[in-house]
Amino acid sequence: MLFHSLAALCLTLTTTIAATLPAIQYETPVSRRWLLGDDKIRGVNLGSLFIIEEWFAKDEWASMGCKGYYDEWSCVKALGQEAANAAWDTHWKSWVTQSDITKIASYGLNTIRIPIGFWIKEDLVLSDEYYPRGGLKYLDRLVGWARDAGLYIIMDLHGAPGSQSPNEEFTGHGTANPGFFTDANYERANKFLEWMTERIHTNDAYSTVGMLEVINEPIKRRVNATDADDMLERFYPAAWDRIRGRENKLGIAKEDKLHIQYMGSNWGSGHPEKYLNDTTGLYFDDHVYWKFDTRSGTNKTSYINATCNLYRPEADVIVGEFSLSVASALQNNDEFGIQGHPENIAFYTDYFTSQVSIYEKSGGWVFWNWKCNWINQFNDWRWCYKTAVEAGAIPKDASKAASLSPC
Ligand SMILES: *[C@@H]1O[C@H](CO)[C@@H](O)[C@H](O)[C@H]1NC(C)=O
Ligand SMILES: *[C@@H]1O[C@H](CO)[C@@H](O)[C@H](O)[C@H]1NC(C)=O
Ligand SMILES: *[C@@H]1O[C@H](CO)[C@@H](O)[C@H](O)[C@H]1NC(C)=O
Ligand SMILES: *[C@@H]1O[C@H](CO)[C@@H](O)[C@H](O)[C@H]1NC(C)=O
Repeated sequence: MLFHSLAALCLTLTTTIAATLPAIQYETPVSRRWLLGDDKIRGVNLGSLFIIEEWFAKDEWASMGCKGYYDEWSCVKALGQEAANAAWDTHWKSWVTQSDITKIASYGLNTIRIPIGFWIKEDLVLSDEYYPRGGLKYLDRLVGWARDAGLYIIMDLHGAPGSQSPNEEFTGHGTANPGFFTDANYERANKFLEWMTERIHTNDAYSTVGMLEVINEPIKRRVNATDADDMLERFYPAAWDRIRGRENKLGIAKEDKLHIQYMGSNWGSGHPEKYLNDTTGLYFDDHVYWKFDTRSGTNKTSYINATCNLYRPEADVIVGEFSLSVASALQNNDEFGIQGHPENIAFYTDYFTSQVSIYEKSGGWVFWNWKCNWINQFNDWRWCYKTAVEAGAIPKDASKAASLSPC
């Protein structure tokens, strides 16, 4: 049986009650397994919602009183906890609304990836750490909307205790010496994963969360092999055990167990399954940014050549982040500029469709990001799905995009 989207699956499972009820109901548990091969993941990230990155949310960040602060940690510290909570509350209320979620579904997308910080479980935060409080009810609201729209959800631990990579605002706390690689912080991350696993299985709003990513973009071996290897050997198998252990305790049926996702070996932290005894339901995440890859060359032809020919995702990989951005040195020139260059839009359509056609050879794709504002002093939709569709660069129906590929 072919399911063309999770929404179709939900409808199938609920046909017996659908006739008497006005909307899709979820009394019948939805199978959480995404059936690769039957359909591909086509999604967007909801970045800068629960972990704000100033570089693509400049106006938002300024409106919160955070201008000049690098990350959530430094702004919360500067504002003070109470004022920060109030500023973030306003942000959480408005950055992603229900109409965003229905628009995502209307664009033929079937998935959202939600980057969150461990601090959304507030009892894990230490007294000398600075993170906003009060986000959980907005996560609950968001997943409920996504469920109602029939969207599959990848829940992504994007900011880990102590920070998992140096100098990255996406961790919530950019620091030169990331401190994730200790027993105490592994334990905090595992407590988070256990808690999230339970919430997903016991809170109805979370019933289309199918995948839990244990950690986003951790340190690479070339940056610190000791830390990367330690994480692989000690955190990765423990995280698996804790998620599956909690599911076993809850009596979750085999077919309803979560997919567990790790950054794949391409990421550079080593081989994620090296220390795992079990790989049932294991998926990998890869992030592909041609912007930072010199093999993409300096003209349109070389970019499309690269996207079509120089990368193939491994089996069971979902490309969880990619964009339409090009090398910084090129992005505003005549070949690639988007301000005052309507003639370049067709290239960006090719750049998008070529990428998704390759990523759909494996599990599928999740664009970075759905929404942003004021990158480099203008609305640079090469990072923003919503405005890229409005600009005519990304096709309105994501499910057809791969078939338009120039590859
Ligand atoms: C790697 O990190 C450890 C702390 O976890 C530190 O002691 C060591 O100096 C770091 N190595 C390098 C090459 O930075
Ligand atoms: C792997 O096997 C060892 C030894 O049987 C066990 O202690 C450990 O919990 C297992 N880990 C996983 C991830 O299943
Ligand atoms: C584009 O760049 C490639 C090298 O990356 C070069 O071989 C080719 O001639 C260039 N094409 C144009 C049209 O400039
Ligand atoms: C296409 O990529 C291949 C492999 O890197 C390279 O040899 C060739 O020059 C590229 N062509 C263009 C037009 O960039």
